[in-house]
Amino acid sequence: MRYLIDKLYENNELTQFELEELLCNLSEEDRDYLIDKAYEVRQRSYGKTVFFRGLIEISNICKCDCFYCGIRASNCKASRYRLSKDEILDSCHRGYSLGYRTFVFQGGEDSYFTDELLEDIIKTLKREYSDIAITLSLGERGEKSFRRLYEAGADRYLLRHETVDENLYNRLHPKMSLENRKKCLEALKEIGYQVGSGFLIGLPGLQMKDYAKDLIFLKKLKPHMVGIGPFIPHEDTPLKSEKGGTAYDTITLLAIIRLLLPDVLLPATTALGTIDPKGREKGFKAGANVIMPNLSPMEYRKKYALYNGKVFSGKESAEEKLKIESGVIEAGFEPILTRGDNIRWKRK
Ligand code: 5AD
Repeated sequence: MRYLIDKLYENNELTQFELEELLCNLSEEDRDYLIDKAYEVRQRSYGKTVFFRGLIEISNICKCDCFYCGIRASNCKASRYRLSKDEILDSCHRGYSLGYRTFVFQGGEDSYFTDELLEDIIKTLKREYSDIAITLSLGERGEKSFRRLYEAGADRYLLRHETVDENLYNRLHPKMSLENRKKCLEALKEIGYQVGSGFLIGLPGLQMKDYAKDLIFLKKLKPHMVGIGPFIPHEDTPLKSEKGGTAYDTITLLAIIRLLLPDVLLPATTALGTIDPKGREKGFKAGANVIMPNLSPMEYRKKYALYNGKVFSGKESAEEKLKIESGVIEAGFEPILTRGDNIRWKRK
């Protein structure tokens, strides 16, 4: 397998067949070698930096019914909330004074968040602060909406493709289509956003070799950011008895993504930190270079439960940031709070 790892390291590319080979036949030693190579590339692209993004979970109301997700529309046990404009602005003000310069607004597909309202929030923040980036993670919207929010000042958009296996996609996402997902991603790129996509690891029925297709999809899309994480079953969803993904596989895939897309912004996700207390640190060593601490108002945090056991420190944002920063430093990395754009991107 070393031959394939070297080839991937040198060319930032492998065929689907080669990726399948690699994913299926990786011994422990090969995997260590892969992780060392990914670490080297990470160092070359971004040094020892870990970019901090303040995550604000603006709503857990969602019209979608994704089988794996705790805030799916059919989960009547979920206690629903949405943040007001002032609560969102306050969270950003708090974040700004802590040093954050990227704010990520994440939420379910909640029609309360109209283009007008989001535009107002984005413009207000961009008037107040000239040195911040705004990332949206609000699911599928129309092209016009994406364009309007970009023109209002949004800089980045996260929309995972979740899985590129069309049959599985259709089974897990009622009334949605992979085709529309891809259309949204293309539109976002065309408009000028820094675009993030990614997939879930360990969805029912998937084997390691199946991620070759997701990797090829990402390589073609050339996203500026990639978010991957283990699927973690949620007790009030149809997938409650399934197994879920492992930290081991997630870290292997982080390393492969770092080699495929050397300058990508790659978070060590909360889901990875949830299934392995050292997961995020291991992720940084395998090529990840972003972390997204929670800035949502305390009283809502427990309600944004996409999966069971989501790490919840109970700490206020300031204390949480200090704890995460010292973890990052202890692991040998350097926390950075500036905008941290992808080195390939300039606003159109
Ligand atoms: N386990 C892990 N990740 C999940 N997400 C949704 N539900 C789960 C789950 N049960 C992820 C999806 C989505 C992101 C915001 O959260 O990949 O894109």
